[in-house]
Amino acid sequence: MAGRIPQSFIDDLIARADIVEVINTRVPLKKKGREYTACCPFHNEKTPSFTVSEAKQFYHCFGCGAHGTAIGFLMEYEHLDFVDAIETLAAEYHVEVPREDTPAGTSQARDDKQPLFDVLEQASQLYQQQLRSSERAIGYLKQRGLSGEIARRYKLGYAPDGWNFLLDNMGSNASNINHLKAAGMLVEKSPGKRYDRFRDRIMFPILDRRGHTIAFGGRIIDDGEPKYLNSPETPIFHKGYELYGFYEARQALRNLQRIVVVEGYMDVVALAQNGIEYAVASLGTATTKDQIQKLFRSVHQLIFCYDGDQAGQKAAWRALENTLPILRDGLEARFLFLPDGEDPDSMVRKEGKDAFEKRLENATPLSEFLFDKLLKEIDTRSMDGKARLAKTARPLLSTIPESVFRDLMYKRLSELVGISDDKLQGEIVSTEAEKVNKQPTTRSRGNREVKQNATRDAIALLLQHPELAGETNLPDFFASASIQGFSLLYALYQIARDNPAISSSALLERWRDKGDFEILQKLMQRNVFGTDEKSGQLAVFNDAIQRLTMKLNDERFEILETKLKQGGLSEAELEEYKSLLTR
Ligand code: UTP
Ligand code: MN
Repeated sequence: MAGRIPQSFIDDLIARADIVEVINTRVPLKKKGREYTACCPFHNEKTPSFTVSEAKQFYHCFGCGAHGTAIGFLMEYEHLDFVDAIETLAAEYHVEVPREDTPAGTSQARDDKQPLFDVLEQASQLYQQQLRSSERAIGYLKQRGLSGEIARRYKLGYAPDGWNFLLDNMGSNASNINHLKAAGMLVEKSPGKRYDRFRDRIMFPILDRRGHTIAFGGRIIDDGEPKYLNSPETPIFHKGYELYGFYEARQALRNLQRIVVVEGYMDVVALAQNGIEYAVASLGTATTKDQIQKLFRSVHQLIFCYDGDQAGQKAAWRALENTLPILRDGLEARFLFLPDGEDPDSMVRKEGKDAFEKRLENATPLSEFLFDKLLKEIDTRSMDGKARLAKTARPLLSTIPESVFRDLMYKRLSELVGISDDKLQGEIVSTEAEKVNKQPTTRSRGNREVKQNATRDAIALLLQHPELAGETNLPDFFASASIQGFSLLYALYQIARDNPAISSSALLERWRDKGDFEILQKLMQRNVFGTDEKSGQLAVFNDAIQRLTMKLNDERFEILETKLKQGGLSEAELEEYKSLLTR
């Protein structure tokens, strides 16, 4: 079993790889000024908006917003996970990937996962085999209008009746049983008493982006409860992240333009049967932000398709809320509501491909759906109603990333409520600014005012020039500061200080699986004024640190002052208060 790849190897490899080379062999680049450009490989375009910065070792597409390091590019472009991307890069630079000897039980996550992929692949093969020999199952799929070809393309299968099908066919050794259990295929009610989760069901394998089976949905034949049974969450299956049919859609259409998001497995398969090969289903829950983000990395248009009933409206609204924060310029979301009692499966079978695609073309734009829905609920003829509309819409609109689209949405709201759009946007901005720049009341801070951007500047500079860490001393108390961004700054600083040779992208890559990765990716692209020169970088960085230190001191001072008024400072705190007072 392969051990963990040493962090130092990863850092060195990333530092050594040149993003321009890595991308250029896959997407030919043209030099343009200080950067390189091409037509973006992640969305469809005629004029190049994909740029690669050699200095920052970072790519960014102004059209679709895709961005990342050389590793990020490989992961996206070749659909690899992190370890695969490292291995690919190492092969290109002709270096062997070393593995650490890992003590038992601490092997890398990937090694724990491979056996799960393996047993699921095996189970899927068995189910497909069973389908071919079950008249009942074949009859059911035929009756639902599916051909053998579509069944093969979606790897549909049949889990026969009985409690021990998988156990009998695969359970000959203990490790297989454990893996089947971990992959969600066996249920263990009491120790040692296990049975197959899926029995007498049509099986829909759920594939990940590389085409590995990671879970199943199983439909009962004829009537019964529950109609669909799904794999539970497992180490390789997170249902809020995966989409049924996405892999198949990408296989069918190399150049995906748009994707229809539907609710059911059968809807996806029936649409494909009828020539609409670009449908995916969220897995029995509301479509999540992660799912939407994932889809928008492949296409720039999503059409959410729901039943016309109340549940459909509700699901659509949830999807809208989850889409807004992701809607950059160039991306589009629409909503299609089907007539009562219809779902995409029944609809497309009834009226065929062309009529269904016509519906898709006429789907309601997100903006229209949003305002129509609010106007249906709120009567804006009165002042009161106008105020209510503003109050309901603003928090929604404020989640949209800065863009022309966002401006237009505010403009529309302003027309509806009769308040200028600057004001509508402005108030939210200023309340946020107030929070950040909370001004102390007891002492005048004068020119000590902390610019809101100091933290971001400091993080951006340190990330882009990790060597700054060796030239500055960051106060330890940053680590535990409760102010947003401070602990992130400190964490970056520590790694950069302890690894003097670390490159900017290697530093960034250390955050790949952590919460702040996206923030750091944005800051990687931030240009901080006055930092073209080395001396400028250090000066601006130190200045930012100084301002942040003052900000922290101000905060601390206020806490102590409040406590003092309430009569309770310890001796040490009193000393601290005095020193802060005379600073
Ligand atoms: P629907 O009840 O709309 O089923 O559930 P459907 O897709 O139209 O299925 P058919 O046409 O009756 O075969 C939509 C989706 O909700 C989830 C499944 O993902 C299903 O595809 N679901 C539904 C469950 O997980 N469990 C259930 O019992 C029902
Ligand atoms: Mn249906």
